[in-house]
Amino acid sequence: MKGIVLAGGTGTRLHPATLSINKQLLPVYDKPMIYYPVSVLMLAGIREILIISSPEHLDNYKRLFGTGEQFGLSFSYAVQPRPEGLAQAFIIGRDFVGTDDVALVLGDNLFFGNGMSELLRRARTRTEGATVFAYHVENPSAYGVVTLDRDGRPLRLVEKPPEPESPWAVTGLYFYDNQVLDIAAAVTPSARGELEITSVNEAYLARGQLHVERMSRGYAWLDTGTHDSLLEASEFVRTLQHRQGLHVACLEEIAYLQGFIGKEQLIARGNLFAKTAYGKNLLKLAKDDEHHPEFLK
Ligand code: G1P
Repeated sequence: MKGIVLAGGTGTRLHPATLSINKQLLPVYDKPMIYYPVSVLMLAGIREILIISSPEHLDNYKRLFGTGEQFGLSFSYAVQPRPEGLAQAFIIGRDFVGTDDVALVLGDNLFFGNGMSELLRRARTRTEGATVFAYHVENPSAYGVVTLDRDGRPLRLVEKPPEPESPWAVTGLYFYDNQVLDIAAAVTPSARGELEITSVNEAYLARGQLHVERMSRGYAWLDTGTHDSLLEASEFVRTLQHRQGLHVACLEEIAYLQGFIGKEQLIARGNLFAKTAYGKNLLKLAKDDEHHPEFLK
């Protein structure tokens, strides 16, 4: 399975912080925002990842991640000339995806929860159709909204409904089989002029192939779209890391625990960042992983 991270957009709600840098490169506490969605793909076991961003920002991602070999991954890069909708990721990424299945994650979506790896593995191993994740929110009209029947099966999808009929927002993480390439190519622009991911999901729903996994109360799905929500996300990560001494979205740690890199690479990266808690965490892991590797996952 391939993975795509879409890190486009203009970040107007974060101006002037995003006048010269794109939103997904801003820090959420101690690491760039995009580390968090990349960590989700890694936990799903995905190692070939395409980063899509705007023409003026793509080089920053190349500088940040390079080939991806430091994480035992392979990164590719592509430009989205204009922010014309999430479904465009599959038009831009068509050659990259080839004949494989693909997961899409939005570069500004931050997920955290016990059991995340298991949830992701289930979505990944489903061989037919699409899997999306529904999250109970206070303000559904800001999102794609799914109405579920008593058994949790999807009935309807609406993009940003002014009067939502359900509290279940569709998060920015999607798993698709290869049909998505043709489905996305056939999507027509919505009233706001975008190729909506909701239209793609509706096509799967019409085929009876849309699976919805609810993320229960034990999960955090955080927004990073405004100055306040960005700071709240940073505070959330800081609180967890300080209290537990376990790091969130530490990519080399995940790579090591997933078996994508070895101990030597882990130590080399730790030394590179030795002045920070991030680097110290890597060096500590290299020392004491023998004691509790299962727990750390
Ligand atoms: C997009 C999608 C929406 C989804 C949301 C998740 O919204 O269109 O369906 O719920 O991402 O973050 P946008 O970021 O374009 O407002």
